[in-house]
Amino acid sequence: MIDDIIQISKEAGELIRNAFGKTHSIEFKTNELNLVTETDKASEKLITDFIRKKYPSHGILAEEGSEANRSAEYLWVIDPLDGTTNFAHGLPIFSVSIGLQKNGETIAGVVYDVMRDVVFSAERNSGSFENEKKINVNKNVNLGHGMLVTGFPYDIRENPDKAFERFIEFLKHARAIRRLGSAAIDFCYVANGVFDGFWEVSLHPWDLCAGKLIVEEAGGLVTNFDGKPINIYSKQILATNSFIHQKMIDVLDSV
Ligand code: IPD
Ligand code: CA
Ligand code: CA
Repeated sequence: MIDDIIQISKEAGELIRNAFGKTHSIEFKTNELNLVTETDKASEKLITDFIRKKYPSHGILAEEGSEANRSAEYLWVIDPLDGTTNFAHGLPIFSVSIGLQKNGETIAGVVYDVMRDVVFSAERNSGSFENEKKINVNKNVNLGHGMLVTGFPYDIRENPDKAFERFIEFLKHARAIRRLGSAAIDFCYVANGVFDGFWEVSLHPWDLCAGKLIVEEAGGLVTNFDGKPINIYSKQILATNSFIHQKMIDVLDSV
């Protein structure tokens, strides 16, 4: 099925690429930070129409509301456009993210980096790939030499949690921190060794289902902030090359 997931991710990506830079009808979801455009919806329709036609018994969980048979053996977990704020503002960093679960376990994941035309993919126990090239996390053991990435939840104004304190503390401990605006791409850049670690709170299943598997199959570790295993419904994400994992937990613990 991985070939199908790659194919439909690329088709959705092409739709998004063709819409990039044009005027969009922007709606607010929960607040004025949380946007949705007609392109998010069109991408989701393209992907879910394909699944309903080719795999009618499969379940669907998708960000813009498409749902089918959530307790089916196979469940497709879909972010039709990850990085909508970037897309709407003309910043070319966004992706299509599709994870496939079988009986609650993620067995395949694809993140399509739309503007770079790069496919990140993984199947359980088969490694991770950037296009055709096998990828691995980096081997850095020194947090001080590391480049980290993070993101901020849409409700940060009402519910800042410890977002600012965590950011400040990591600024003191790592070489650099980036905020790309597409969580799915953040995971992939941990998987291919660009980033040493990624932390974020309040992600959704569609933000992390594919990316988590891609990091794990590239040799990395994905847990909550206590180092405990997580599923796609977890609200804390720490994804690293594994070597700096405990060091990042110690920093998270200190705030
Ligand atoms: C968002 C992006 C962003 C992350 C947000 C997500 P969306 O997804 O992944 O990087 O910080 O938490 O909601 O809304 O663009 O699909
Ligand atoms: Ca998303
Ligand atoms: Ca989205």
